[in-house]
Amino acid sequence: MRSMSSYLLSVKNLRVSYNNNVEVLKGVSLNVEKGEKVVIIGPSGSGKSTLLKAIDGLVKIKEGEIFFDGVKVTNDNIIKVRSEIGFVFQNYTLFPHFTLLKNVMFPLQEVKKLSREESEKIASEALESVGLLEKAQSYPFEVSGGQRQRAAIARALALNPKLLLLDEPTSALDPEFVGEVLEILEEIARKGITMIVVTHEIDFAEDVATNVVFIDNGEIIEIGPPSEVLVSPRSERLKKFLSRIIRKKLIYQK
Ligand SMILES: Nc1ncnc2c1ncn2[C@@H]1O[C@H](COP(=O)(O)OP(=O)(O)O)[C@@H](O)[C@H]1O
Ligand SMILES: [Mg+2]
Repeated sequence: MRSMSSYLLSVKNLRVSYNNNVEVLKGVSLNVEKGEKVVIIGPSGSGKSTLLKAIDGLVKIKEGEIFFDGVKVTNDNIIKVRSEIGFVFQNYTLFPHFTLLKNVMFPLQEVKKLSREESEKIASEALESVGLLEKAQSYPFEVSGGQRQRAAIARALALNPKLLLLDEPTSALDPEFVGEVLEILEEIARKGITMIVVTHEIDFAEDVATNVVFIDNGEIIEIGPPSEVLVSPRSERLKKFLSRIIRKKLIYQK
């Protein structure tokens, strides 16, 4: 079934509840055009991770629909859809007993069924694109947290996804490594890939986002370009949220 729209992703009235409990997403609708960079902000527990997981088919949907690249996502095509979506988690999920190169190669060989040679070529290019080619033969424990997260980003990019989801990609990092990961993400963003990033890095959102989404308590409260949502928030909830994270940042910079 094809939708009429040109959106890469269209989420319609999405409702999710874990274990038939209270709803965690209460009718979320979101359209993402090809090439857009969406930044999602919102308090802890508001449903941001659940939204990304639902887009990747990792949680059960109670109500609503998701269209990806014009096709309604169903149980029958979710594996294919997922193969076109890259997902980077807060805690880099590299295999500890594989080198960085092997970590990036692994899904190319196992998911894409590419040859060893082809996988190695693509993986090396991906590592190079995040500035890690010289660490290709290092193990995760031998590199910094920032480098591990860059390797996780390379692994997602190597699969050439149509959509890249990043769930708080810098929030588990020591502060000294946040900058280098954000820089890589800005670079990737400039290359035109469609991205949805959950982050509280407001400067990044201002520089990179085409749209900022503020989620609170399972609902989208505000959505729009950063110049509106971040500069002149309309709702009290967003005003409060922004002043809280900006205050935190000022304390940290002292
Ligand atoms: N696997 C799960 N089982 C039950 N409840 C969950 C699960 N994952 C998340 N939740 C709950 O759903 C709500 C939204 O969580 P989440 O999407 O992780 O929020 P956020 O990413 O915005 O912090 C929270 O109340 C959380 O406790
Ligand atoms: Mg989360």
